[in-house]
Amino acid sequence: MNVRSVRGTHDILPGSVELWQEIEEKTRLLFRRYGYGEIRTPVLEETNLFCRSLGLETDIVQKEMYTIPARRGRDISLRPEGTAPVVRSYLENHLNRGSGLTKLYYVGPMFRRERPQKGRYRQFHQIGAEVLGSDHPGIEAEVMEMLHVLLDDLGVRGVRLLVNSVGCPSCRPAYVRILQERLLAESDLCADCRKRSRRNPLRVLDCKQASCSPVIDNLPSILDHLCRECRDHFRRFREFLDLIGVSYSVTPRLVRGLDYYVRTTFEMVTDRLGPTQNALLGGGRYDGLSELLEGPPAQGFGFGLGLERLVLLLSRNDQLAAGYRSPRPEIFFAYLNEDSLEKAFTLARDLRREGIFAYLDFGGRSLRAQMRLANRLGSRFVCVIGDDEIRTGLYSIKRMADGTQTRLQQGRISRHVRSA
Ligand code: HAM
Repeated sequence: MNVRSVRGTHDILPGSVELWQEIEEKTRLLFRRYGYGEIRTPVLEETNLFCRSLGLETDIVQKEMYTIPARRGRDISLRPEGTAPVVRSYLENHLNRGSGLTKLYYVGPMFRRERPQKGRYRQFHQIGAEVLGSDHPGIEAEVMEMLHVLLDDLGVRGVRLLVNSVGCPSCRPAYVRILQERLLAESDLCADCRKRSRRNPLRVLDCKQASCSPVIDNLPSILDHLCRECRDHFRRFREFLDLIGVSYSVTPRLVRGLDYYVRTTFEMVTDRLGPTQNALLGGGRYDGLSELLEGPPAQGFGFGLGLERLVLLLSRNDQLAAGYRSPRPEIFFAYLNEDSLEKAFTLARDLRREGIFAYLDFGGRSLRAQMRLANRLGSRFVCVIGDDEIRTGLYSIKRMADGTQTRLQQGRISRHVRSA
């Protein structure tokens, strides 16, 4: 076949999807306990939303968005991330009307035109959560705690938390000027970083090129240039982490690839995803984003977790992966001809209404082939419908584990299947 899935996209097939479902179910249960409500924003947004929110000089806006040029009106893009759409929706739908915090979470596909490799795709999925309405570092620690519980529940081990502060509009510009001066004097930077040095020096800090590392390691640290408020905020955040016993490493290079961040940024990383895609999740504070979108001031904090990366980690975890196989039919109806198919059809329907997984084959197979199929599927019971059964209204139900047969009226089948 020469029609294939688009490069960088993947089918999630039965047999694999169950792990996704379990992750999503656990996430939903847990996030509800922390007061989050689910939000589903469209996959398409105005391109402008991302240009304004993420920043014109970011990799995502420069080269990774899937944009559909407008015939009339404005260009639209497939969302590359979830924070900007959530804040857009928060403003548009006045979700701040009640007092207190607005806590929202989402699960869904995002799109970035990146070079695909293991752990990096063009369509990928994120679980994300955003809290709007507080600039308190305590809420940041609460999010860290929630993430720890989630990863613990799922059995993810060996993830490290990196934290940093990227300052605020009152202290960051002075640091960026110092950084720029230093960078412009450097000759050993990659071509991208030379460009970044002129247009957005902070981006140099998260360059992944090995050749840039020696230069970056010797650059001044942003943490030495924070204003008092940012310093206090960062200290309080770490005190809360200590309070709840979450360990972390302070990582001054962690500026993240999006321009909306202020103050706290963080990532959870693992060595088990390979050297370049080591981030399982990342996030931070974005207090000015609402104003960038012409809304009233609204502080925000959140994270995005890459579901494919989480699944990669868990799939190696044999204990979880081993549990998955396609569901076994509780009862398989085999039939001899079109008349008995009709009876089997209605019997299966009635049992399904009672919550039983009843299987019916439409492959035109002989009775023997149907029995083989029932075996292959691991069906627990088999019921063969022939003229006799239709005439007498008594059905013989065979328990596959030991071959015992029981003749029952229709109304007794479900209890029998259940009780076995
Ligand atoms: P991000 O770091 O760009 O942040 O993405 C978050 C996570 O999504 C990454 O840590 C990674 O696991 C996953 N991810 C990103 N790109 C790809 C890709 N091409 N293929 C597979 N997985 C990928 C954000 O998106 C922010 N919106 C997070 C946030 C929420 N900040 C505040 N609130």
